Amino acid sequence: MSLTDRKLVVTGGPTREWIDPVRYISNASSGRMGVALADAASHRAGETVFIHGPMEAALLEGKTYRTVGVESTMELLDAVMSELTGSTVLIMAAAPSDYRPAGKSATKIKKDDDRLVLELVKNPDILKTVAARKSAGPGLEGLFTAGFAAETHDVENYARGKLRDKNLDMICLNDVGRPGAGFAVDTNIITVFTRRGARVELALASKRALADKILDLVEEEIAAYTHSS
Ligand code: CTP
Repeated sequence: MSLTDRKLVVTGGPTREWIDPVRYISNASSGRMGVALADAASHRAGETVFIHGPMEAALLEGKTYRTVGVESTMELLDAVMSELTGSTVLIMAAAPSDYRPAGKSATKIKKDDDRLVLELVKNPDILKTVAARKSAGPGLEGLFTAGFAAETHDVENYARGKLRDKNLDMICLNDVGRPGAGFAVDTNIITVFTRRGARVELALASKRALADKILDLVEEEIAAYTHSS
């Protein structure tokens, strides 16, 4: 089954966790890698859906595929789960906030105290939730999952650990400390690790060019699964 017969669900951008009506916790993800992947997917997949957190509207202009906007990690989780089918390829390029405030203050927090302690609770891990659903029973056996790992140190170990812990078919390591591989730029440097043990270095290139190479590798992996089953 090639990508033309598959639904590609790509996520991108940060999520936003509100503290009070005027403040939130978020991160530096711009959503550019996700858009590049969704653009590439739309030329090759049967159906493409891009689920994204808050990001620059200009980056989403003129898209021919379906886009779904969400705000928090919980909303992203719900949106992802509702799109999954047995022939979906899920590429999680989003940077979901790992924690959210234990409660959102209904009114603006005033600077009355010299110290302010915010209590945060852990958000669910979307890829782990998807993996649990996939192994829970029939329906999603054909689902292919790819994640991203944005790391600053001990990068390969963390990437391989995430491939294993999140039960992924593929992980794209993004060493954000390297020039040209940052968040708001149009280029990236990626090393791909697969469940079958492949390690492929993709040199500095535009995010759009890298997106096509990542999809080539997804196709190769799917073909290899098909031949070995
Ligand atoms: N991810 C996810 N759900 C979360 C957090 C992350 O599905 N709550 C996904 C990301 O979209 C990415 C992969 O998991 O594809 C790795 O995300 P990353 O932020 O690098 O790692 P974390 O698992 O959050 O671990 P840590 O922050 O400790 O590095």
